[in-house]
Amino acid sequence: MRKPIIAGNWKMNKTLSEAVDFVRQVKALVADVRDIEIIVAPPFTALQAISREIEGSTIELAAQDVFWEPSGAYTGEISPIMLKDVGCRYVIIGHSERRQYFGETNESVQKKIKASLAMGLHPIICVGEALEEREAGRTFDMVKNQVIQCLEGFSPDEMERMTVAYEPIWAIGTGKTATPQQAEEVHAFIREQLGQITNRQVSEEVRIQYGGSVNPDNISDLMVQPNIDGALVGGASLKAESFSRIVKFKKA
Ligand code: 13P
Repeated sequence: MRKPIIAGNWKMNKTLSEAVDFVRQVKALVADVRDIEIIVAPPFTALQAISREIEGSTIELAAQDVFWEPSGAYTGEISPIMLKDVGCRYVIIGHSERRQYFGETNESVQKKIKASLAMGLHPIICVGEALEEREAGRTFDMVKNQVIQCLEGFSPDEMERMTVAYEPIWAIGTGKTATPQQAEEVHAFIREQLGQITNRQVSEEVRIQYGGSVNPDNISDLMVQPNIDGALVGGASLKAESFSRIVKFKKA
């Protein structure tokens, strides 16, 4: 059974004090949740403080990006060992905003995954099509390319330590969620691709999260889909009340 996984990607939001204050509230609100893996991905500047704050709770820590080299003259970058050191268990890799604004490619994603796995981190790999691609009927081609180019070559054992996030770009921050059916068909397709890269058994174990305008009102309908194992939440993860309602979707 795949344990549901709900992650909040804060993107470039929250100062240190806002971050700490937020996590204290969430911690209290989700203290009784045991059957969902809960992750927060604050900006780098808040990682250490949040890491201390969540100690002993069921909340896990993720970074929003990573560089593939272990150390050296790479001004502005953060390495996997630094993330591990600060208490991260997960790292988001290949978010569409990184691809769109910062030159992330499938090739750089693949290098970041490799380096992160080597440090024992669990990568959350983002894939998803743009609106023009969906409208041109190229969704499956696009997603297949991303999955293969980012993930081919990893062993079944490595693949088991990853999570894939399907985030259709047109649904991010737009309030326009993919319908549960639209999301499910791509999730099922991604699982099939993972099976071809590794094997059926592994593909059945890898969790696939949906991201794109997830909120407390649409989470339940997404989560009942057989291949949707969780959510990667942007905007609605910034308020403790809405994030905890998403985490507690079963009680809604
Ligand atoms: P929104 O939930 O704000 O649409 O963002 C989704 C996202 O990009 C999560 O990584």
